[in-house]
Amino acid sequence: MSFRSLQGAFTSLPSWNKVQSSGMKELHSRIDTLRRRLGNRLLILGHHYQRDEIIVHTDLQGDSFQLSAAAAKSSDCETIIFCGVHFMAETADILANSAENLARRNGRRINVLLPDPAAGCSMADMATRQTVERCWNELAAFIDTDDLAPITYVNSTAELKAFCGRHGGIACTSTNAEAVLKTALKEKRRVLFFPDQHLGRNTALKMGIAESELVLWDDTAAAGGNTAEQLRNSKIILWNGYCCVHQKFLPDHIDAIRQLYPGIRVIVHPECRRDVAEKADEAGSTSYILNRISESPSGSLWAAGTESRFVERLAKQNPDKTVVNLAMQPSYCEFMGLIDLPKLSAMVEAADTGVLTNVIRVEESVAADALLCLKRMLACQ
Ligand code: 13P
Ligand code: SF4
Repeated sequence: MSFRSLQGAFTSLPSWNKVQSSGMKELHSRIDTLRRRLGNRLLILGHHYQRDEIIVHTDLQGDSFQLSAAAAKSSDCETIIFCGVHFMAETADILANSAENLARRNGRRINVLLPDPAAGCSMADMATRQTVERCWNELAAFIDTDDLAPITYVNSTAELKAFCGRHGGIACTSTNAEAVLKTALKEKRRVLFFPDQHLGRNTALKMGIAESELVLWDDTAAAGGNTAEQLRNSKIILWNGYCCVHQKFLPDHIDAIRQLYPGIRVIVHPECRRDVAEKADEAGSTSYILNRISESPSGSLWAAGTESRFVERLAKQNPDKTVVNLAMQPSYCEFMGLIDLPKLSAMVEAADTGVLTNVIRVEESVAADALLCLKRMLACQ
């Protein structure tokens, strides 16, 4: 076959886009049908960084704090499909199946499904139980660890939440980090904050804690790369972790966008670097960004330094305003993006047949300790 006739053969086929979109339509309507059948036996939760095709099927969209709170309160359902990342599904399992909730349901568990078990989080992977325990033991040579509160950002494994539970610590989200730090510092002289150094640093500086009282713990160096004096004078010891999505934003992006759109307001997530958070007009959690933009007057101009799928949705939901990504190059969370329509549809089918896959279940002993620190977190707003 000549190249020309080959070309002809391809053009006579329906375009791949058409095939794909009719397949997508079928999946959407299949999910709708099954969801009607399942009613409130199924709860679909979706983080704001999920794809639009997923968000349209969620019962509740939210940031980490809102979704944790929803899982804690879920009572009627049999299954939660968590459209987010692994640590979020773990948190949902711990909260939905707390001893209290199990007793209310006469021991009936809620199964939490994650549509793609590979949807992890590179920041959560930056601190492990082993590395944090090693740090804790090493710190004991310099400071009194009885007077040290471990605070874990919810973007961490259940094992680290359990570590915090055992050591009188607490979890936080970007929504309540300041309230959590304040609570911890009322009880203890110091805090070990992991895994996100930026959220810890930005929050501490906003609270007026002196820069000299912040130290960075580099897990690969002796004493975390600090002198004994630095550790003894510290108030907040920051783990050396970061979010690859938010750390991409730079002060130069803020200069460039301000030149392009004079008068634009720059709003960023506190997982961004300190120099970005300081240069921006404001910084706040995902729900803070959503509320600020949604409640701003018509005609407002916003550049948002956070996950790009979420920013693009905000732009669509606020057609009377200009909402742009802070950087020219979009910054998508590849882990959140792993959840797509075929994977969601497979989970809804599983919920319907009862033949479940991708169940996220935290081991009981870990869950019991992790619950302590999550409960303390939910009480802090
Ligand atoms: P929040 O949902 O707490 O704003 O956190 C953002 C994030 O990075 C989630 O993975
Ligand atoms: Fe992890 Fe960052 Fe993605 Fe959130 S946005 S899941 S912190 S990599």
